[in-house]
Amino acid sequence: MKFFVDTAEIDAIRELNELGMVDGVTTNPSLIMKSGRDIKEVTKEICDLVAGPVSAETVALDAEGMIAEGRELARIAENIAVKVPLTWDGLRACKVLSDEGRMVNVTLCFSANQALIAAKAGATFISPFIGRLDDINLDGMQLIADIREIYDNYGFETQILAASIRTVNHVTEAARIGADVMTAPPAVIKKLAEHPLTDKGLESFLKDWEKTGQKIL
Ligand code: G3P
Repeated sequence: MKFFVDTAEIDAIRELNELGMVDGVTTNPSLIMKSGRDIKEVTKEICDLVAGPVSAETVALDAEGMIAEGRELARIAENIAVKVPLTWDGLRACKVLSDEGRMVNVTLCFSANQALIAAKAGATFISPFIGRLDDINLDGMQLIADIREIYDNYGFETQILAASIRTVNHVTEAARIGADVMTAPPAVIKKLAEHPLTDKGLESFLKDWEKTGQKIL
């Protein structure tokens, strides 16, 4: 499973990138707003840091506007994936931009049919939002499973990018189902390494080690 980091915070990306944890980055207008940075400047910095795809989102509502914005964003770096919303205009923009050889991430996906039609439009990535479905008492993870089944039935190459991941359990479940990629905030990625029994075990090893009076260095 590829790990994308869902943030526009450079320091957080750098820290995870040094551990080899970052296969790509996803941003959106809310994350750019949170960073307080200029979209082109911060996206360029991210692209310089990370070799994998960096999603940068368009904000126009019409296909022509999305195409123009997508081309402009793609000028920032080779590894830009243009992010467009799952609307009819977004699909039109997806088709044009992917025909031009650009990576396209179709976002705000909330149904299996939306994922199916995005694959037909040539999406490189489809971003189903797990957490936001869970928020309204629907089953975000079932959507990932449905899309996996449909894509596998027909050999679609569009990669399932599990998004709106809020918990470590979301990561486990998405990995079990076989999502190609997950994108999560840095805090969720760091939590993947945590376990109370690890902390407890370490504490007791260190106590016993002290009793030996030995040193390794
Ligand atoms: O990857 C999409 C993500 O940024 C949305 O997450 O937590 O705002 O639903 P969230």
